[in-house]
Amino acid sequence: MGKKCYPKVSEEYQKAVEKCKRKLRGLIAEKRCAPIILRLAWHSAGTFDVKTKTGGPFGTIRHPDELAHVANNGLDIAVRLLDPIKDQFPILSYADFYQLAGVVAVEITGGPEIPFHPGRPDKSDPPPEGRLPAATEGRLVGSDHLRDVFGHMGLSDKDIVALSGGHTLGRCHEERSGFEGAWTTNPLIFDNSYFKELLSGEKEGLIQLPSDKALLEDPVFRPLVEKYAADEDAFFADYVESHLKLSELGFADAE
Ligand code: HEM
Repeated sequence: MGKKCYPKVSEEYQKAVEKCKRKLRGLIAEKRCAPIILRLAWHSAGTFDVKTKTGGPFGTIRHPDELAHVANNGLDIAVRLLDPIKDQFPILSYADFYQLAGVVAVEITGGPEIPFHPGRPDKSDPPPEGRLPAATEGRLVGSDHLRDVFGHMGLSDKDIVALSGGHTLGRCHEERSGFEGAWTTNPLIFDNSYFKELLSGEKEGLIQLPSDKALLEDPVFRPLVEKYAADEDAFFADYVESHLKLSELGFADAE
């Protein structure tokens, strides 16, 4: 991944970003919806394909075609929750707005502060279906599938493990994904408990997806899981880097 060359936005735009960030903090705290908002930001960005430079965090996820992708089941709820805030900031692109919301979701649940650079344009074409990872994948199993999918985004092994820590928030809903249950005992707190739970094995009432368990079986992934479980500062530092990369896939790449 090359150096970034961020576009200059107007002073009015920058002010709207700051004000919108405050409104998002209020809404996400009030609705306790940080998990689904983080999932929205991730599914919006994670469709980027590094070879064709298509997909990515460019606001297309709000379109019915993309919301109808199987991986996005339930994300119409997140789009709807955010609409009243977006309406107050017509100057902002949806692309920036959803990524800003993702950053706020992590921050207000106790996670690290992730830098935010505005200027993403909205694009019109939704990506093809099938670019996001599957929890259970028949064709390629476990870590091969994760490397294949994240590799297409241009993300690394370290990004895979650090970003998987996003499952410190939220839960699976039977009617959305076919899975049920949270990964941690406090799904509204962003900390390193996802990695601790993963290492301590399956427990009554908590879930570990096949894709989560794949992190334990791989010689590169497992030491990172162990490092993040033992050292929350190390997890936060790597998470910031990886989340920033994810939120800027295909954006501001210097030629
Ligand atoms: C590594 C591959 C991944 C797979 C296979 C995967 C799969 C899933 C599945 C099946 C759900 C349950 C959806 C539902 O039933 O509501 C889920 C939820 C969630 N995912 Fe992932 N995920 C992955 C990576 C990530 C990443 C990278 C992030 C963020 C950085 C993330 C953040 C979340 C959050 C916050 C939820 C909870 C949503 C809620 O509570 O409504 N996931 N994921």
